[in-house]
Amino acid sequence: MSKAIHVSKIIKSTGFAGETAIILGSGLGSFTDILVDKIHMQYQDLPHYPTSRISGHAGELVVGNIENKEIIVASGRSHFYEGCSIEKITFPVRVFNECGIKNLIITNAAGSLKKSQPPGTIAAIVGHIDCSFQKRFEAPTLNTEPRYHSPRLISLAKSVAKQNKISLNEGNYCWTLGPMYETPQEINYFKTLYASVVGMSTLPEILQAGLLGLNILTLSIITNFAAGISEVIPSHEEVLFNAKNSQKSVVKLLVEIIKKI
Ligand code: HPA
Repeated sequence: MSKAIHVSKIIKSTGFAGETAIILGSGLGSFTDILVDKIHMQYQDLPHYPTSRISGHAGELVVGNIENKEIIVASGRSHFYEGCSIEKITFPVRVFNECGIKNLIITNAAGSLKKSQPPGTIAAIVGHIDCSFQKRFEAPTLNTEPRYHSPRLISLAKSVAKQNKISLNEGNYCWTLGPMYETPQEINYFKTLYASVVGMSTLPEILQAGLLGLNILTLSIITNFAAGISEVIPSHEEVLFNAKNSQKSVVKLLVEIIKKI
């Protein structure tokens, strides 16, 4: 029996039969407060489940309901820069798939490469660029395949944001390995690849979920201007502070999306 199936059996013992999973990024853990009939499972109690040591990341799975829609939420994730393998980082996605979900909503904190997309706004990700330089020497390119960025879920997010006056733009997510923030020169290079937001997580999860045939919606919470876009030098404190400030609109957006998904 594979490890993922093993853990999915534990989750199924909660009776989970929902169609949607959410992965919460830095500082967004309070989303689970609004779930009803909640069951919490600590990552450390789930065999093989990766844990995070980064502040702002809780470490639990929460099964619960939003207006009778049952969902499972991963509150906190692990990162490549913590020394986790891609297999470990993507383990939760395989677990959710074994649990029978159809939709995966991924959230993250990200830096903006565009002055017109300031901290406090949200980007619905329509394309990605792998700038981890792990596998190939050729230049990274923009990938907008619908199997990684569900057109249906993106347009749902946009219409819900409009109805609720939440500032949501489309964006292309550039994945870097971290853990340090980028240099202004790197950010200038990413601009030439059509990147509009940059972050250190998420792409492994997107690629795994795409391979499994899940419908994927990625929402980047803009927590800072990327290096060189403004005078302010990016820091984890700024990221957590602005993620917290955005919590209300992110929670509202997620709730309304779940109701209609
Ligand atoms: N760069 C990389 N990752 C990030 C950033 C950033 O500016 N902000 C939040 N996560």
